[in-house]
Formats: sequence, C-alpha cells, structure tokens
Amino acid sequence: MPSDLSHLSGNPKLIQAIIEEISFKGPLTFARFMELALYHEGHGYYMTQAIEHDQSSQERIGWGGDFYTAPELSPILAKTLVRQVVEIDAQLGHPTPFVFVEMGCGNGTFAGDFLQYCEEIAPDLLARLNYFLVERSLYLQSVQESYIREVMGSRGESQLRWVSSVEQLEGDSVTGVMFSNELVDAFPVHRVRFNTDHFQEELVDFEDGQFMKRLGPLSSPSLEKYMSQHGVGFHEGQTSELHLAAGQWMFHVARVLRHGIVITVDYGHTGSDYYASERNNGTFLCYYRHTVSMNPFERVGEQDMTTHVNFSALAKAGEEGGLNSIGFTTLANWLMGLGVEEMVGDQDPESKEIQALSQLLRPHGMGTTFKVLIQRKGLEPKSLQGLRYRAFFDDVL
Ligand SMILES: C[S@@+](CC[C@H](N)C(=O)[O-])C[C@H]1O[C@@H](n2cnc3c(N)ncnc32)[C@H](O)[C@@H]1O
Repeated sequence: MPSDLSHLSGNPKLIQAIIEEISFKGPLTFARFMELALYHEGHGYYMTQAIEHDQSSQERIGWGGDFYTAPELSPILAKTLVRQVVEIDAQLGHPTPFVFVEMGCGNGTFAGDFLQYCEEIAPDLLARLNYFLVERSLYLQSVQESYIREVMGSRGESQLRWVSSVEQLEGDSVTGVMFSNELVDAFPVHRVRFNTDHFQEELVDFEDGQFMKRLGPLSSPSLEKYMSQHGVGFHEGQTSELHLAAGQWMFHVARVLRHGIVITVDYGHTGSDYYASERNNGTFLCYYRHTVSMNPFERVGEQDMTTHVNFSALAKAGEEGGLNSIGFTTLANWLMGLGVEEMVGDQDPESKEIQALSQLLRPHGMGTTFKVLIQRKGLEPKSLQGLRYRAFFDDVL
C-alpha cells in the first residue's frame, strides 16, 4: 500500500479504502468500484456532502452541484405526477391509506413539491396519503427531511416514513404508486467486452500508483444468464454495461406492490437500441460541476457516475415479478398527456417556469432522452392520462 496518494484526485479516504480492498481481494469488478465510489458508507459520493477547497459545503444535485434533475429544474414533474396519482387513486377506489413510494429521493425537492401541490389540488388524497421515501444515503435523508419541513412545516409529518432500501418494505404492502426519477441510472453496473467470440469483464486494478482497467473472465454466472435472458447481443469489439442491480431492484418493487402502478422515469433506451453499434463503448458517464467526462478514476467520490437504463430489461424483470408493462413513452409525451400546456397557461414565455418547461420538453434533449415506463399490478387495465400520446408502438420493449 503506497503511503503517498496525493497525486490521485478525489476523496483521499475513499481512495485509500478502494486501494485497500484491491490489495486484499485483487482487481474489483467495475460494478464494485462504482458501488464504492458512489455508496461507500463513510465516503461515497451520495453518502457525503461536497466540501469545497475553501472548506465551504454544497449539495451534489442541482444548479450549484454537479448535475441537475427534472425536479431540481422545476416543480412541473411533481405537479403532473400529482395529477396522475389522482387518476390512479380513483382507479384503485380511493384506498386508505394510499401509499406513494418515492425511491432515490435526492434533495427531497420532488417530495416537497408533490406534497404541496397535493395539498392544493387534492386535500382528500393528502389526508389518506402515506409517503414513503426510500433513500440509501442517511446524509440525503436528513437533507430531504429539512426541505420537506421547510415547505410543509409539520403538516403531513406523521404520514412520512423513511427507509434505506426497497428490500426493507414488506411484500404486498403497497396499494398505490411506486415512483422513481433518475434512480436506476445511479445503480452500479458491470462492464463487459465482446472480442472474437468471447466475453471479458472490465476490472479495476491499482498498479504503479494509478487506478487502471484490465480485462478478466466474467465474475459471475449471473452475467451470462442476464445476457441470454434479455437477448443482449454485443457487436465485435463492443464494451457495454449489464445492469444486474436494476433487475434486482425491480424484483423487489414487484414484490412490494400489491395493487397499483410503478412509474419509472429515467434516461435510457430499449434493449436493441442500447446495444446498437453506435454505442460501441456503452453509456457510462461522470458529472462534475455540470461537465461530462468518461474517466471514472478522476475525482473518485467527488463526481457522479451514471449509465443509461435498459428499459426492455427493466420491463422484463418486472414481468417476472408479476408486473404488466402498460406503457412506455417519452418524458415530453408524458408531460403533454398530463396537460402541462394548460398548467402553465398564460405565463410569460420569458418566465422561469416556461423556460424550465421548454428544457423538459426539448425534442433533442430531456424531452426524448428521458423515458417513462409504466407497469401495473392487481389493477384493471385502464388507460392513464400520461399515456395519452404514445411515442412508440406497444411492442417496442
Ligand atoms: C441521481 S439521484 C436522483 C435524485 C432525485 N430522484 C432527483 O431526481 O433529483 C439518485 C438518488 O438515488 C439514491 N439511491 C441510489 N441507490 C439507491 C437505492 N438502492 N435505494 C434507494 N436510494 C438509492 C441516491 O442516494 C440519490 O438520492
């Protein structure tokens, strides 16, 4: 173990922990490296607050952080979700309680906005609502709690509950909606390369004072199983991601939901688009102060790491757990179906709201890169407002 690691960029304690694990166990899978970089208990990116060189602190998510998300851009996603949930509540026969589970809650902005708008347009639903926040980071749980208290005061306080993983929720315990925005893209992924008829896995090693990638045999039979299950076809020389964690997460979502709808919003593709030859190096990216890089070995623990979502695999994992996919559309079509145009009404085109909305609807940006997958369980197959404008044929997944 080298004593001077000051030439490596990132959180020194995290770098040390990763090097220790490599020297103890040998090269790590890329998934394990990503897991430690983002979720190491004491030093991972999402588990800690960013500390600037001048020792001031700041958030990771949002305009002042490394990347922004739809809820950080505008309350419009939360407001349209309330509209959609009101419709689902009616389809479920107005249950008490109606459970809304948000998974991967960031700064708590979506939750705060959702609760406020629900109070405004559907107080009867709010009175019956149990809002569960599933958040892995204890640090972010406290950020969420403060934000919700700031906007809601003590209103609805007793209806909120935090858990750190969906595994902690009891089977068949939810009648309502299970929602996530940009959660699945934050799961660790395995990276695999296909060369002359065989697969090798990307591993992370530490040599001559540097992190480096090397190739090794597949670390687990689950990777081959995943590829055959999801019909993943690599091209010669292609390196791409396999999303085991996403499948496991979806399995638990399906297990927990009794009656209701799963709404998953994220950037991603169908399986055939994901492994198309134009994505020869997969979709892995890092974000730091709104700049993009492909280098996981800089700013370790101080930059976000993400990959696009394979929605076909996610839908299939859900089906195996008893969910039916009832819709797959773009974020733009979803928002239009829920009436965003009428919601912003006659506001000034230069207003912050309209600017944010045009960002969310951008045809070559968030509006189409972001997709919405809708799955249902134990509920009559009725249409939903958000699926009024289908972007794809039904069998695209
Ligand atoms: C990219 S951020 C998105 C945050 C928020 N949904 C938004 O749109 O602003 C991902 C969030 O998911 C959380 N997270 C990651 N893995 C998780 C897991 N397995 N269970 C619950 N939360 C998780 C992270 O801590 C973080 O809050």
